[in-house]
Amino acid sequence: MEEVNAAGGAKKKLYSAVQPTNALTIGNYIGAIKNMAAMQDEYECVYAIANMHAITVRQVPAELRRNTLSVLALYVACGIDPERCTLYIQSHVPCHAELAWVLNTFTYVGEMERMTQFKDKSAKHADNINMGLMDYPVLMAADILLYNAEVVPVGVDQRQHLEIARDIAVRFNNAYSPTFVVPEGVYPKVGAKIGDLLDPSKKMSKSSENTNGTVFMNDGRDVIIKKFKRAVTDSGNEVRYDPENKPGVSNLLSVYTAFSGKSIAEAEREFAGCGYGQFKLAVGETVADALAPVQSEQARLLSDKEYLNGVLKDGAARAYKTASSTLSKVYRKIGFYQL
Ligand code: TRP
Repeated sequence: MEEVNAAGGAKKKLYSAVQPTNALTIGNYIGAIKNMAAMQDEYECVYAIANMHAITVRQVPAELRRNTLSVLALYVACGIDPERCTLYIQSHVPCHAELAWVLNTFTYVGEMERMTQFKDKSAKHADNINMGLMDYPVLMAADILLYNAEVVPVGVDQRQHLEIARDIAVRFNNAYSPTFVVPEGVYPKVGAKIGDLLDPSKKMSKSSENTNGTVFMNDGRDVIIKKFKRAVTDSGNEVRYDPENKPGVSNLLSVYTAFSGKSIAEAEREFAGCGYGQFKLAVGETVADALAPVQSEQARLLSDKEYLNGVLKDGAARAYKTASSTLSKVYRKIGFYQL
């Protein structure tokens, strides 16, 4: 039976994935995880942990394994409900690698060489420019197309990859007959992006060199408060949202509203006449208070391996059902003899 949304219409299919590398930050939470939980009402959601994408740069095996479960537990702790959506690990569904192989034959080497992220990562990992790094967008196209996803929320850094996924889908559909749903990318509004606390012009990144400007989802209370106390502010002393002239204060206000549920206007009123010091402390305390229950729920889940394994088994089975049906359609169209 088709799931329905609040308006009584059929729910659109949504696909999203995250790489289980490094610890996630409050920027990931505000920009992605919070929305992933909210979108379960409106969409039929498929959420993957993209460990196959992660190995395109070298990983420490034990860390990759640990981060994978840690992301899963964090998602569930943040309200992503494995009963309502399909939550699974990419490598548990063999169809991703299989479809990626077929899609490789519909992708040109020149297109992949031109990808910005490939060029950036090649420069950063010059000693390991492997085929997987170049093929990364094709695997990502396979992820999306296997599930007939109509909507794919991604950061702007993934826009080029999403466009390629659309191109590949159209190319295949034109070569045979309509097979793949052509996905729409949905990009966060400007302002939804959280800046580094020490350099708000830079995105808060989980792989930043200086971790003092990055607040991780698993930072303890004291660390969180210390990081906010050290956050850069701007000239003047007024707490006002003005990203152009007050990038530091505006970034902190964005964080504050995301974790307190208050509006910018409410926050400005609340901190009118406060010095920056008092404001920064309040933001730090609010974030720490909001994260505490998430962190303890994540820890509780991580100690319940049996439950997490059950979630993953169930998720993989559900994912496989859709993915294998798409793959079989593709194999038929391209002329693979099937039993
Ligand atoms: N490449 C994405 C990132 O690094 C993760 C990802 C893998 C993804 N497969 C996907 C995102 C499919 C959306 C859809 O953020």
